[in-house]
Amino acid sequence: MCGIVGYIGHREAYPIIIEGLKRLEYRGYDSAGIALYDGTNLKVSKTKGKVADLEQRVADEISTNANLGIGHTRWATHGIPNDLNAHPHYSNSGNLVIIHNGIIENYDSLRKELISRGYTFKSETDTEVLINLIEDVKIKEDVKLGKAVQIALNQVVGAYSIAVFDKTKPGEIVIARLGSPLAVGIGENEFFIASDASPFIEYTKNAVYLEDEEMAIIRAGKDIKIRKIKDDSLVDPYVQELQMNLEQIEKGGYDHFMLKEIFEQPNAIKDTYRGRLLAKKGIIKMSGVDDNIEKFLNANRIVIVACGTSWHAGLVAEYIFEDLARIPVEVEYASEFRYRNPVITNKDVVIAISQSGETADTLAAIKLAKANGAFVFGVCNVVGSSIARETNAGAYTHAGPEIGVASTKAFTTQITVLSLIALKLAKAKGAISNSDYRYHLQELELIPEKVTKALTSDTHIKAVADTYKEARNCLYLGRGYNFPVALEGALKLKEISYIHAEGYPAAEMKHGPIALIDEQMPVIVIATKKGHYDKVVSNIQEIKSRKGKIIGIVTEGDTHVKELADHVIEVPETLEPLSPLLTTIPLQLLSYHIAVMLGKNVDQPRNLAKSVTVE
Ligand code: M6R
Repeated sequence: MCGIVGYIGHREAYPIIIEGLKRLEYRGYDSAGIALYDGTNLKVSKTKGKVADLEQRVADEISTNANLGIGHTRWATHGIPNDLNAHPHYSNSGNLVIIHNGIIENYDSLRKELISRGYTFKSETDTEVLINLIEDVKIKEDVKLGKAVQIALNQVVGAYSIAVFDKTKPGEIVIARLGSPLAVGIGENEFFIASDASPFIEYTKNAVYLEDEEMAIIRAGKDIKIRKIKDDSLVDPYVQELQMNLEQIEKGGYDHFMLKEIFEQPNAIKDTYRGRLLAKKGIIKMSGVDDNIEKFLNANRIVIVACGTSWHAGLVAEYIFEDLARIPVEVEYASEFRYRNPVITNKDVVIAISQSGETADTLAAIKLAKANGAFVFGVCNVVGSSIARETNAGAYTHAGPEIGVASTKAFTTQITVLSLIALKLAKAKGAISNSDYRYHLQELELIPEKVTKALTSDTHIKAVADTYKEARNCLYLGRGYNFPVALEGALKLKEISYIHAEGYPAAEMKHGPIALIDEQMPVIVIATKKGHYDKVVSNIQEIKSRKGKIIGIVTEGDTHVKELADHVIEVPETLEPLSPLLTTIPLQLLSYHIAVMLGKNVDQPRNLAKSVTVE
């Protein structure tokens, strides 16, 4: 949830940390802070607000020759966003400095115990408790920082990734991870620490990802030493080569990451099926599925677990798996699944979907499913993420970094991967005719160019956005494959424009939401030709009779809905199971333009963070 970054080596730490924080700001942005140490002077600066506010604050006072530094961008859990609660935090002696991502669940009892022994606290955070616990252990046990961190973490319940240093021992940073990601970039006699690899991509392509319950002592000019927190055993660092490049994590001329990512979708979808979809040969190659095909084919059912937009992709997958492969599917919010004592056995296949691969609830759902004997398959975007590593097998979406908090290309590439799996299983089961199978493959291959076409409506969509930007409520309706798209459209509008929006199956409207419809209510109806068209047209009539404002998402050349609706936005024709890949595009653009017109911070909407690594 929070972003952490650190540097130790021969370069000036400040620019690396501040630029790194800007790249990690998608993880949380209610306050930011930095600590720089040049071996003599320790400078700490922190503030409520964004990294830009921190930058302004430190402009005059920051030491420029520090070669060690840590920085933090926060998404508040314990304590409101203010200067005091911002990280870094110090121990009572002022010697130990920490940044932390995660939650220490037993912080209250630890705090009381520390208070009873004379410790005082300036902030309301669990992090300040942790750094004083480390100091307490260090003094009581008379041990070095690394050992003190290890002993303290064994007393802690919760999730964390931390970076700590001791100003009485310059040249060393101690890091640890449980449940929140932590990457270490390995340079020439220098190390970079970050919640993901984006802060150090221009300095090194070599990275080590800490596993849960691991800690490392990092010393400038020396090797990285990784140990298990529980039993102190040494771990061989596994150095991975990063695939990401700098261009991918910059805006590339777009005003916002969200817009860039919307327009990246044709290529992202192509990258997702590249090497997997051989349409002409009628072959889908996916090693994660090929190697486990019997598990899928013999499963009683597939259970999909995910959160947010990924959950919506799961709902689309439910339609496609049941429709084409005739495999029963249930889709669960990971946060509900993990606590509701679900019936899961070794006859179930669980598919976990996550862009970040770090969502705490999805990770916990995976662990639960595995403990009950299920085979767990991951659909993730971030390579090497916790979910990618925790699952038994999986398929990456290859969408490239998604930085805008509102998921866009993650959604369409997840649907692409899930469609490939469903078609593959449909073929293997004999649930689809050969000609139908090949037709779906050919259509899937054409999706990127159809998405490109759908994107050409951008100017028209902007005009529609201008008409409805003052709306206080919006309704999104769709049926069948496009019901989850209605949910996703409503989520997009809510999260970046703060306009209340609800998605509904079109036919459910008359069971309640119809009462909301009047001349003030824009209703976005997905009414493509192949998706229960006549039924949706009847729903449109019902809205019209109640004076609702209708924005129809229609198939190119449609004339009927045009006569009824106030506005129509066309998308190219495709097969119904693939239609969400197109109908979602205008909904993303509509939300984007409304939010921009309302002056909202599109890439960093209030209260949200890109990956939710806490419950
Ligand atoms: O990284 P994940 O796909 O696991 O994230 C799940 C949700 O937190 C995420 O989709 C969230 O709902 C987005 N802000 C939606 O745009």
